[in-house]
This record gives sequence, structure tokens and C-alpha cells, in this order.
Amino acid sequence: MSVLIEKDQLPRHVAIIMDGNGRWAQRRGLSRIEGHKRGKEAVRNIVETSRGIGLSYLTLYAFSSENWQRPPREVRALMGLLNRYLRTELRRMMRYNIRLRAIGDLGRLPATVRKSLLDVIAATQDNTGLTVVLAVSYSAREEIVAAVQTLAAAVQAGRLRPGEIDQQAIEQSLWTADIPAPDLLIRTSGEFRISNFMLWQLAYTELYVTDTLWPDFDRDAFLQALADYQQRDRRFGRTAEQLIETELKRAAR
Ligand code: IPE
Ligand code: IPE
Ligand code: MG
Repeated sequence: MSVLIEKDQLPRHVAIIMDGNGRWAQRRGLSRIEGHKRGKEAVRNIVETSRGIGLSYLTLYAFSSENWQRPPREVRALMGLLNRYLRTELRRMMRYNIRLRAIGDLGRLPATVRKSLLDVIAATQDNTGLTVVLAVSYSAREEIVAAVQTLAAAVQAGRLRPGEIDQQAIEQSLWTADIPAPDLLIRTSGEFRISNFMLWQLAYTELYVTDTLWPDFDRDAFLQALADYQQRDRRFGRTAEQLIETELKRAAR
């Protein structure tokens, strides 16, 4: 299968809820952990594809705050896989000019994983190609709570007046400050929910849900999602006619 996408109409930022590793494994009579291992390969593949086609930002929801409640054995396996991923991918990230960032409550990560993560973030911070944002130990509601606390502290210290708290101030207090909002959100494995992911940032993001389970989500499946996105009519609350007018004016300039 080959999928045609328009290079000049790519989303700038794609975010992915990588779901379905457990079901992928269970359908094959394997342990859930086997599914996570295969999921790691899919991550490598999608990062490589994103870089190849020239995306600017790719955010991957790898582990939610709620996922800490999974059986300890599964949590340990996921942390081990994350650690190994970080250690093996650093060389590739340097070679391909990829910058890594992370959002989430990193303080909850085991010390070794946190160290690997911070090491890769530091080593890649000046890379100028694709930015990969890993959401680990992430909860959008916690992110918003943290932002509110930051702003309240600024008010208490007299550096900010309550009336100055606007959308931009909130945006700049989120973990995603200086990262543009996602243009496209992909969720694999057919679930139509957000699961506490980027609640503020997704306000005008295009949503794409596919039944494909994360370990099976390959280059073609990704390109298919991008092609679907390119068919969308993003209106941001305006009428279609207004948008055509803006397009025509832009073309005339
Ligand atoms: C996604 O796959 C990986 C994480 C949430 C860490 P799941 O483990 O949620 O797989 P399913 O949803 O049970 O199939
Ligand atoms: C969402 O998947 C979190 C990640 C993909 C990391 P879950 O499998 O944890 O979400 P729910 O439980 O289906 O909402
Ligand atoms: Mg799941």
C-alpha cells in the first residue's frame, strides 16, 4: 500500500496516544509485556518516519500518571523498556539531529530512568531537527494544577496581577510552554477517549482514531492518518466562506 501526502500541508505537531500493546499481546497468547516490547519497535519506526517526512514536533504519550496503578511487574517492565529505549536511541537521535523533551511528573520516575531521560534531554538540547516530546508519568489535570500553582505564587509575590492571567499566561505556565499545540491527535486501538492527555492543548486539534493496535501502527498507517488530516477543513470557529476568503487573499499577496 502506498499513501500520498502533501509535503507542504503537513501538520507541524502530531501527538499520539499509543494504545493497544496489551491487547496485541493477549490476542497472540503472549504476556502484556511482550506487547510493550513490540510497542517500543513501533516507536522507533514512527520517530524515524516523522523525521523522514520533516515533522517539527512529535509527542508520544508513553505512560500516564494513572498507569502507576498497574500491576508492579508491568510498571517495572515499562520502566525498564523506557530506560533501554533512551540508552539505545541516543546515538540515533544525535545522528539525525533529533531533540528530546519530556512532560510529566518526572520526580516519580525511578532514579535510573530519570537520569537516562535527563541525560538524553541534555545531550540533544541543541539539535534542531524533529523535537520528540515524551509524555511520561503525565496527567493533563496535574499539569494544569501545577500551572495554577505557579501563577498563584507569582501573584502572591507581587509579580503578577490576577487580571493579567490570560490564555497566554496559562500556556506559558504549562509543561508545554514554547511547544505549539498539536495539529493532529492520533489514538490507536479504537478507543474514543482522551485519557487525561493535553486537555488544554487539544482545544482545536484534529482527532484521528484507528482500530490498529499500537505495535501494528507502521509507516503506512501513520501516512494514512496524515493523509486523512490533510482532507480536514480546520475552521477554528469561523465559517467555511471566511476561510476561503482568507486563503484567496493570501494567494493574491
Ligand atoms: C499502551 O498499551 C501502553 C501504555 C498505556 C503504557 P496498553 O498497555 O494500554 O494496552 P491495552 O490498552 O491494554 O491493549
Ligand atoms: C492511555 O492509555 C495512556 C497511554 C497510552 C500511555 P491507557 O490504556 O492507560 O488509557 P485507558 O485506561 O484506556 O483510558
Ligand atoms: Mg490501553
